[in-house]
Amino acid sequence: MAELATALLPLIFSVILLPLLAIPNGVHCFEEKVLRLQKFQWKQQSSIPISCLSQKSRREKGSAILEMKHRDYCSGTIKDWNENLQKRLILDDIRVLSLQSRIKNTISTRSDAPKTEIPLTSGIKLQTLNYIVTMELGNRNMSVIVDTGSELTWVQCQPCRSCYNQKDPIFNPSISPSYQSVLCNSTTCQSLQFSIGNSAVCGSAPPTCNYAIGYGDGSYTRGELGREQLNLGTTLVNNFIFGCGRNNRGLFGGASGLMGLGRSDLSLVSQTSAIFGGVFSYCLPSTEAEASGSLILGGGSSVYKNSTPISYTNMISSPQLSSFYLLNLTGISIGGVALQAPSFAKGGCLIDSGTVITRLAPSIYRALRTEFVKQFSGYPPAPSFSILDTCFNLSGYQEVNIPIMRMHFEGNTQLNVDVTGVFYFVKTDASQVCLALASLLYEDEIMIIGNYQQKNIRVIYDTKGSKLGFAEETCSFV
Ligand SMILES: *[C@@H]1O[C@H](CO)[C@@H](O)[C@H](O)[C@H]1NC(C)=O
Ligand SMILES: *[C@@H]1O[C@H](CO)[C@@H](O)[C@H](O)[C@H]1NC(C)=O
Ligand SMILES: *[C@@H]1O[C@H](CO)[C@@H](O)[C@H](O)[C@H]1NC(C)=O
Ligand SMILES: *[C@@H]1O[C@H](CO)[C@@H](O)[C@H](O)[C@H]1NC(C)=O
Repeated sequence: MAELATALLPLIFSVILLPLLAIPNGVHCFEEKVLRLQKFQWKQQSSIPISCLSQKSRREKGSAILEMKHRDYCSGTIKDWNENLQKRLILDDIRVLSLQSRIKNTISTRSDAPKTEIPLTSGIKLQTLNYIVTMELGNRNMSVIVDTGSELTWVQCQPCRSCYNQKDPIFNPSISPSYQSVLCNSTTCQSLQFSIGNSAVCGSAPPTCNYAIGYGDGSYTRGELGREQLNLGTTLVNNFIFGCGRNNRGLFGGASGLMGLGRSDLSLVSQTSAIFGGVFSYCLPSTEAEASGSLILGGGSSVYKNSTPISYTNMISSPQLSSFYLLNLTGISIGGVALQAPSFAKGGCLIDSGTVITRLAPSIYRALRTEFVKQFSGYPPAPSFSILDTCFNLSGYQEVNIPIMRMHFEGNTQLNVDVTGVFYFVKTDASQVCLALASLLYEDEIMIIGNYQQKNIRVIYDTKGSKLGFAEETCSFV
């Protein structure tokens, strides 16, 4: 116990991957997995990085493989892990509220306003974006936050009118021979408004293409569009269009900028589609600061390390919500028991790399909670925390059997939630461990599959084939 309490790094535990059949109360057979609590190593990473750039990359069979780290990796020493874990949940709720209002605005303004007036990227809260990779832009390595909900890739640029603190030197286009400014009269500049919602403003002498993206919470980036040589795991992308941000504000955790993996023409996925075929995938590691996952650009499935076959579901196309990745959630099962709820297979369900906790329609969440509590019975309860209302005190246990959670999507596709994605540790000593899913306020809001339930899963976005695949994988970068 004392060891657990003094240790620092959360969420490292070992797991027995084989499903077990357990017979609680001698009545039903529920499918369960073992979550071992006694192997937690709450330790700070051994050396605090002075740079965020230690992530590696390589090329393999036509794909670029980039090492992916949790953002905590480059935010330095974490003094209070409990506070860190709790703050993350509160910020997550803010992200979801703003995503929902962005969706409402998009739908309601559509009929009476041209698409160009809809601020497609406003409303995302950057503080909660969690994973970083390193890319080489203009012959300089830079660590950037990965976001499937953003379009434009941008980095902070010198000379800065205002830049937040970043760990690595700020990009200086004036000393890069391959940098070119995008001119205001170009078609690229004119199409900017379709991608990011705000039309460009022309600079004078030179007539630069100036952009502005606000993220709703006061975070923003403003600057000019440029073209640069981008190098992703030794794959060269010439004339890559990105934002050279001269005036930026927000909590970006020391990263140099952001990588936009959204669906518009401007996103990195679209700009590299001739090379990578419009396919990317990620595998998010189950632990915080030290563990690695990977972001793979390109669809050569032989480079994945998946342990189960990939199963694909079609993305729902919604003209109103064309910038989101939407899926058709048809069911959820807990310990092999299928939940009954009216909101399955209705509307779309957004899959997001930036939201932490999955948000379900109230009727689905209620059914899930009831079934989970029924199967995970006999453990001492703990108070709820923020958006999480089903909590336990597991500090007296070495290991627990937890019901297997599966999400089902149209096309007989399933996402088997990793055993590390079922409980969120509000307290590092496991005295307050909560079911890591939450309810939306209203039945008709858009559901969101958060990144906590995507850990140790290869999630494949095939934007050309308009389908999304899942396979189990123990994430790493090797
Ligand atoms: C960027 O990092 C990679 C991997 O560490 C290294 O091989 C490459 O030389 C670096 N590029 C530059 C321009 O420093
Ligand atoms: C855009 O403006 C530049 C000079 O400002 C000019 O040289 C170029 O021809 C113009 N391009 C187009 C497509 O009008
Ligand atoms: C979701 O899939 C179900 C079953 O195939 C289908 O009946 C339903 O119409 C689909 N919903 C949407 C929004 O596409
Ligand atoms: C949690 O459970 C442990 C062991 O059963 C107990 O000693 C401790 O007081 C409990 N903590 C809280 C906050 O209830």
